[in-house]
Amino acid sequence: MLVIVKENYDAMSKEAARLVADRLRKKPNMVLGLATGSTPLGLYKELIRMQRDEGLDFSKVTTFNLDEYVGLPPSHDQSYHYFMHENLFKEINLDVRHIHVPQGMSKDVDVFCEWYEKRIVECGGIDLQVLGIGGNGHIAFNEPGSSLGSRTRIKTLTGTTRMDNARFFKTGEEVPRYAITMGVGTIMDAKELLLLANKTGKADAVKAAVEGPLTAMCPASIIQMHAKAFVFVDRDAASKLTGNYNDSWESKIFQ
Ligand code: GLP
Repeated sequence: MLVIVKENYDAMSKEAARLVADRLRKKPNMVLGLATGSTPLGLYKELIRMQRDEGLDFSKVTTFNLDEYVGLPPSHDQSYHYFMHENLFKEINLDVRHIHVPQGMSKDVDVFCEWYEKRIVECGGIDLQVLGIGGNGHIAFNEPGSSLGSRTRIKTLTGTTRMDNARFFKTGEEVPRYAITMGVGTIMDAKELLLLANKTGKADAVKAAVEGPLTAMCPASIIQMHAKAFVFVDRDAASKLTGNYNDSWESKIFQ
């Protein structure tokens, strides 16, 4: 794992975008795993800027999103389809045929999940997966207790996660109870991981993921088992780490 601590959110996001751009320039048809949430917004903004100012080209890229709420149509302003469209897809030259976001309105969720897994493999596997982290250590919607070998499937959201998300909905009742999410095992199959976290509210989760024991109670701790995981954090999210992390991702020396 390579932990890169940056002064603030802006610096963290820009550095993460440099890494994504580096991988994209080396492999123009890369398969990029994407995440939602507020954390990767700075990264997406910077990628949009790089496309505009530096000609970064997404035309051959294939994307797979981590998760989507069950029961929200893509037009719902809280769906992850909508989020991705508004914050990234509509701004860059991705081919819409290459975009994959789990279908929260699937009639048969199990069939869909199986198809999603197959589709990732058909496309050559995910080269780089962007990840955020929940305050309780979840990745995608793999809540504490999720099997560390799990695959794409439907999951019940915990009370904490629903509360975290309640601010985006008019009433608490409207917050979805279920989501389709890539499994921890699916995420681990990506060739590289890029986990982002900022703010003090994430400090405990980052500490548990990076320096805590490997446990299903903190699904993000699985990154300790990945051969090429990058953790980009701002000073606040890194505030509980005790290791000495000054690495640059360009050093390529993984601990
Ligand atoms: C949701 C998403 C996760 C994301 C998390 C944190 O639960 N399913 O993929 O990492 O929120 O969100 P934020 O980045 O807004 O803190």
